Amino acid sequence: MPVSPFIRDLPKAELHLHIEGTFEPELMLEITQRNGVSLPFTTVDEARAAYRFSNLQDFLDIYYRGVGALITEQDFCELTCAYFDRVARQGVRHAEIFFDPQAHTARGVPFSTVCRGIESGLQYALQRYGISSRLIMCFLRHLDESEALVTLEAALPFRNVIHGVGLDSSEMGNPPAKFARVFAAARDAGLACVAHAGEEGTAEYVRDAVDVLKVQRIDHGNRALEDPSLTAELAERRIPLTVCPLSNLRLGVVDSLDRHPLREMLDAGLMVTLNSDDPAYFGGYINENYEAMQEHLGVDDATLARIARNSFHAAFLQPGRRTELLAELDAYLLEHDMHLSVR
Ligand code: HPA
Ligand code: ZN
Repeated sequence: MPVSPFIRDLPKAELHLHIEGTFEPELMLEITQRNGVSLPFTTVDEARAAYRFSNLQDFLDIYYRGVGALITEQDFCELTCAYFDRVARQGVRHAEIFFDPQAHTARGVPFSTVCRGIESGLQYALQRYGISSRLIMCFLRHLDESEALVTLEAALPFRNVIHGVGLDSSEMGNPPAKFARVFAAARDAGLACVAHAGEEGTAEYVRDAVDVLKVQRIDHGNRALEDPSLTAELAERRIPLTVCPLSNLRLGVVDSLDRHPLREMLDAGLMVTLNSDDPAYFGGYINENYEAMQEHLGVDDATLARIARNSFHAAFLQPGRRTELLAELDAYLLEHDMHLSVR
């Protein structure tokens, strides 16, 4: 998908990105060979052909197979560096990155290996490209809360590396309330809290993520629109929704991009951002998501700039860094004679 020059260089933050979901088949095959692991495919074309999903669970089954190739600290570092090498060319100035520690520790890969490998990649991004980042550890919601509590304990020595916690994996039948205690403990430990909700689950899941887990952002949140009073509350409280259009298309959350609810979200006054989720699997990184909304919904540059501005407001940034990034965005818009239209 060709991306317009305006979108390409627009300064922005990525706030919904699973690092394991950036595992491109080329790198996967290279690491698989190095580690002597086997996969259900042996070429890039076979891998891409296998990436056909009709729902979240279909996707997760393939995603966890790919994750199995990651074993050493070097693997996690290379994965993270490869992600930043790509998005350094997409105007990404700050990235908040999810990882799934339980998908690794369950295979015998130590928590410290995963954390140190990703952390080296984050340092590389800062030094090489000046891209700042935050790391968010997700609990797998198809597992028990007791396992999430063990994972939280394992994370506490890495408190300086891990900024927050999230909740991902199979949503249906695994409501936010199942994780009330672990989120309370994470909050007590001073960690930021976010959760996937309303991707496949109902508006009630979004409501509970806000009321019970007390999250600061909702990941996806599409189905919140089914409840007008919840939608009004999210708008009023400026609780951000990290929306992922290409993911929504590939996982059957929407049946076409022309019918994506982004416009309804904006019209309802919701604080939305555009993000890529699992770009190696869903056919595009952050800019392809911006571009898709322009192409399919006719969202204009000024509105995309407002969404980029939202991304800096919704990010877990130090105040000085936020000011710097907003100023960089303002300067970019001034260059494009757009400073008045997006305020
Ligand atoms: N949804 C839920 N869980 C996930 C996803 C997703 O898109 N990607 C990785 N884990
Ligand atoms: Zn996600």
